[in-house]
Amino acid sequence: MLNNVSAGAPNIPELNSGLQLIVEMYRGNASRKKAKTFMALPTLRKIFDEHKRFGSDKWTSYFETYDNHFNRYRDKAITLLEIGIQNGGSLEIWGKYFPKATRILGCDIEEKCRDLTFEDPRIEVFVGDANSPSIYDSLIKDTPSFDIIVDDGSHIVEDIIRSFAMYFPKLKPGGVYVIEDLHTSYWPQWGGGTDLTLSSMGFLKLLADVPNKEFWRDGRPDFNLLEPFAKRYNVDIDDADLNIDEISFSNSVCVIRKGEDGFENRRHITGTEFRVQDCNWLLPLSGTRELVEQLNVSGRRPESTDMQREFVTVLPEVLKNRAELANLREQLAASQHHAENLQQALERKEQALANVESRLSAVYASTSWRMTKPIRAGVALLRGGKR
Ligand SMILES: C[S@@+](CC[C@H](N)C(=O)[O-])C[C@H]1O[C@@H](n2cnc3c(N)ncnc32)[C@H](O)[C@@H]1O
Repeated sequence: MLNNVSAGAPNIPELNSGLQLIVEMYRGNASRKKAKTFMALPTLRKIFDEHKRFGSDKWTSYFETYDNHFNRYRDKAITLLEIGIQNGGSLEIWGKYFPKATRILGCDIEEKCRDLTFEDPRIEVFVGDANSPSIYDSLIKDTPSFDIIVDDGSHIVEDIIRSFAMYFPKLKPGGVYVIEDLHTSYWPQWGGGTDLTLSSMGFLKLLADVPNKEFWRDGRPDFNLLEPFAKRYNVDIDDADLNIDEISFSNSVCVIRKGEDGFENRRHITGTEFRVQDCNWLLPLSGTRELVEQLNVSGRRPESTDMQREFVTVLPEVLKNRAELANLREQLAASQHHAENLQQALERKEQALANVESRLSAVYASTSWRMTKPIRAGVALLRGGKR
């Protein structure tokens, strides 16, 4: 990553993307011609800052992240999908950033997006909930797979996970899936929470184990690492089906790159002298499968697998109990409040009764009451009552 290369250097996007190319050339990943082409292309930040017409809304940290991950697509006939387009400006910007893109699709639940008209014929907008089967079907009807998918939709935890489960399978091998505005993962209004394990960041942290799955799946009883999320949000997602090559996080954004089909990770050893550690025991191994098999025999720790399984089983129970406890606490607080109100009403009634009783006693004790006693007795006699 360039970030490592340029630590301490001024953060100038043009300079960074230029440096990135020099690094790539040095690594042998970019030809001089290609480097020239890329140097001539403006950075995303530049395009964004100079953009006119429809509005767009991005955070500073996204520009460099996008330049780093999208650079290799800039001269390619790619397809792109953005979930959540709001005013539509980001689609116009993607059109300028990827001049050779063939299809730039946007989806938004907001009805007003129907009125957005674009000069760029590659842009098409679909209005509706990106996670509904009907919108999914229309999105993939003419564009069955994408090189880039950007989720800038509702940012609600459940929607993020549901979209990932639906659309990551539609990413081409080597393609890039981006989730923006992940700060909402810490906010309850978006279904998140700082200490909530089943948040979008919690999901992505588990997903960060997937690029290494060849090292932990072999010889292990079958269980799905993502099962707590599959159950909690009722989505169909299994780590066994996910081929993830890279996950990177920066401020509020996560980039997930799909693995290439048929890629096999091998250990490469060079040099002829091994004075500190003899690596010969690894030389006959052709890939990770053999390495894992060998480690299974010599030093695997089965308890770590048991702990994972325990985690998967227990976590939903813990969350369920926490939710029930919070609910009971709320009910108790409401009942206590009600009991306090009743107690106060009771005390007010007792006071009112004491007041009227004391007024009644005063009447009985008065001289006029005693002097008029014969009259009251006579009236009662006339009415046939008792004295
Ligand atoms: C942050 S804005 C998008 C900004 C835009 N990408 C940009 O860069 O300027 C989020 C958009 O997502 C849309 N949205 C929310 N839930 C959605 C859903 N389930 N499906 C599609 N779009 C959704 C909202 O209507 C809103 O316009």
